[in-house]
Amino acid sequence: MTQARAVSTLVLGGSGFLGAHVAAAAWKRERSRPEDARGRVVSASREPARGPTFWQPRDAVELVGVDATGGELERVLDELAPARIVCCAAASRISDCERDPARAEAVNVELPRYLARWCAARGARLVHVSTDLVFGASSPASGGFVESDPPAPISVYGASKARGEAAVLSADPHALVVRLPLLFGDSGGRALGASDSLVAAVRAGEQPMLFRDEWRTPLDVSNAAEALSELAESHVAGILHVGGPVRLSRVELGHLVLRAAGKKSAELYGLVRAGTRSEAGLAATRPCDVALDTTRALEHLSVTLLAPREALARRAAGLFRTIP
Ligand SMILES: NC(=O)c1ccc[n+]([C@@H]2O[C@H](COP(=O)([O-])OP(=O)(O)OC[C@H]3O[C@@H](n4cnc5c(N)ncnc54)[C@H](OP(=O)(O)O)[C@@H]3O)[C@@H](O)[C@H]2O)c1
Repeated sequence: MTQARAVSTLVLGGSGFLGAHVAAAAWKRERSRPEDARGRVVSASREPARGPTFWQPRDAVELVGVDATGGELERVLDELAPARIVCCAAASRISDCERDPARAEAVNVELPRYLARWCAARGARLVHVSTDLVFGASSPASGGFVESDPPAPISVYGASKARGEAAVLSADPHALVVRLPLLFGDSGGRALGASDSLVAAVRAGEQPMLFRDEWRTPLDVSNAAEALSELAESHVAGILHVGGPVRLSRVELGHLVLRAAGKKSAELYGLVRAGTRSEAGLAATRPCDVALDTTRALEHLSVTLLAPREALARRAAGLFRTIP
């Protein structure tokens, strides 16, 4: 009798901007093993088929529909019995969280708490994805925020993510919380993330405002996914900052994105407006500088974290060429 293969990785939130890349990266790691040593990769969310498939063959990653804040999560977890869970499920938009703090609490705090308890009880590995926006009330030392800096969020989103981190680590001391920076890169044509959303706005003839006073250490989303998949197979615990190697303002990043999309330097100021968060009325919920210091992560990663210019150059022949 053939034994069903075990689920090696469950990507919760696998239909999202990041989660779709994490599922692809996890599958890539499985595919690199001998066939009889490969585990199953499962992508789960409320509408799992909504996400793009960045993996080959198209059915390599199994899709499971589940509302992770509903009562069915325990049954799904018990049935799948994954060795690892990477939690990318989130209420991820700042404005949505301001409007609906109860949902932010359910998805960003209570869900990871539940996952951590489940993983601790079953001996499963949990990697929980968090954000640089757990900071923001003050600026970091030069080099960026380190893991031991106390969270000081300024938005409902950031505060809920900080409480989610604490809930995970108190329920499962073996779990890893990975704080990611602003992500850009391929969203599978969905205009998600810092580059595709900008490109889509420019294509639509808008002249979006990019902030000169918002500093980040941006990272390509597939690069972040590779790092998460590697860390999921490690035993690193606690908090880890996985940011990009270069600190940039949103205007600088936007200009790099548009240059990679084939726009000329002279055109850039006509395509986007450079402004401040105050001018846009967003200074209260969008931090000025949340650069992450990635020194600790580099001790544990073999994946190279690329600077935006290099990551965008790698993509320039693909998605970005489609801008008129
Ligand atoms: N994007 C960034 O620039 C960025 C930066 C730093 C950190 N992060 C972190 O990275 C993680 C992923 O962010 P993202 O940008 O990929 O967000 P996203 O595109 O909004 O994806 C969120 C995912 O969560 C799923 N989800 C939401 N509610 C759910 C529920 N009740 N049950 C099951 N699944 C649910 C969504 O799928 P369904 O709608 O199908 O349920 C989707 O797959 C988050 O933890 C975020 O804080 C993102």
